Amino acid sequence: MKITVINGNARHGSTWNCKELFCKELEKYDQISVTEFVMPKDTPTQCVGCFNCFNKGENNCPHYEYIRPVVEALEEADLIIMTSPVYAGDITGGLKVLLDHLSYRWMSHRPSPKMFHKAALTIVTTAGAGKKHATKTMTNSLSFWGVKRIFSFQSSVAAMRWEDVKPEKKAKIEKLVVKQAKKIYHTIHNMERISYPFLRGLLFKIMAAMQKSNNWNPIDRKHWEEKGWLNGAKPY
Ligand SMILES: Cc1cc2nc3c(=O)[nH]c(=O)nc-3n(C[C@H](O)[C@H](O)[C@H](O)COP(=O)(O)O)c2cc1C
Repeated sequence: MKITVINGNARHGSTWNCKELFCKELEKYDQISVTEFVMPKDTPTQCVGCFNCFNKGENNCPHYEYIRPVVEALEEADLIIMTSPVYAGDITGGLKVLLDHLSYRWMSHRPSPKMFHKAALTIVTTAGAGKKHATKTMTNSLSFWGVKRIFSFQSSVAAMRWEDVKPEKKAKIEKLVVKQAKKIYHTIHNMERISYPFLRGLLFKIMAAMQKSNNWNPIDRKHWEEKGWLNGAKPY
């Protein structure tokens, strides 16, 4: 199983340790190979809003040298793991910078066909609050990229460091990870037999209808035309 991890922060703290628990658990089912990116180290530059990705193509992004390896690893992955601690009620700024750069991959622009066959896992830890909001920020991008199955793990660890997380809390986390990792493995194993989520499919159809009358962005329109998506073909 190929796993691409996008770490929302660089610390080997609670979030990183939860991710490690998932990887160790998944390894019990299958051989895994993990490619990791760490924010903000691997995508250090903010989106400057030049619109080049939308209007000229993503390789015209001034930061494409940082974005390209992440995109390639996302395309390769059987499982995308996206992690973040809660900062000021949401994901880290570093992760948001990456997600901004990947806006061109939203269904409203040029979604990658491969995403419609992938699974993702979001991992969020927080001292106490904000985990739902941070998770939603991540799942928004993943679902608008077209990802087929999205799992979410959240934990209020009530600590600044993993070492300070109470043993009972760690035991609870481990139990949840075991349960969820099993589900993730079985989902990936049976991916082609699982139906595409109805609402995400509906969103795709709405976007296809919008692209049919698209006379404002030839690159987006060409993407949809070339794949036959304007003539009823679907990526899922
Ligand atoms: C800059 C910063 C902002 C934070 N904001 C929040 C917050 O809004 N709500 C909250 O409950 N915890 C907040 N925390 C606590 C972290 O979310 C929590 O300790 C998390 O588990 C740390 O993850 P890590 O060990 O992977 O770094 C914040 C921590 C930092 C460093």
